[in-house]
Amino acid sequence: MSTAVVYVTKHGTTAKIADLIAQALGTATLIDLGDDPGSDLSRFDRIVLGGPVYAGQPLKRLKAFEAAHAAELLSKPLALFTCGMETDLSQREAEIAAMFSEPLRSHAVGAWFMGGEFQFQELGFFEKAVVRRIVHVTESVTAIDQVAVTALAQALKTAR
Ligand SMILES: Cc1cc2nc3c(=O)[nH]c(=O)nc-3n(C[C@H](O)[C@H](O)[C@H](O)COP(=O)(O)O)c2cc1C
Repeated sequence: MSTAVVYVTKHGTTAKIADLIAQALGTATLIDLGDDPGSDLSRFDRIVLGGPVYAGQPLKRLKAFEAAHAAELLSKPLALFTCGMETDLSQREAEIAAMFSEPLRSHAVGAWFMGGEFQFQELGFFEKAVVRRIVHVTESVTAIDQVAVTALAQALKTAR
């Protein structure tokens, strides 16, 4: 079974999570939509798709990819993931709903919230100000949920 882990990232944390998912699956091809926006998925049997949340919303590149590849994503075993620092469970659900269309969520083996990071050295001036003022975080934090990574990989491995 060949698996593609397709993702978007702004500051690199989703790439780290995609790599952890690939390791948990055993083998997978990582596809960063920033490098390869028109990526061809036809040679893959299973797809993992994910990206980060900023101000409650996904990056536009992820939505564009979903729209362009909807039929293919709906025709194969699919697992979805969201990278973000929200801690409230209902807000996390809302962020997952904003990230992926209802048909994709219904078709997928699941949609996991993976946590994320605030990497102050990577953030621009405006982003740092937002994080300080709104989240009251003033230094780098890592909160990637390895349990969710393992759960996604297990669910996809047993999907038909
Ligand atoms: C300006 C800013 C806004 C953010 N807004 C949200 C948000 O609304 N919800 C959330 O869960 N995480 C939010 N985050 C956290 C990011 O999703 C987190 O830093 C993530 O790890 C970024 O992933 P990336 O490095 O792959 O882009 C925000 C981060 C920044 C810097």
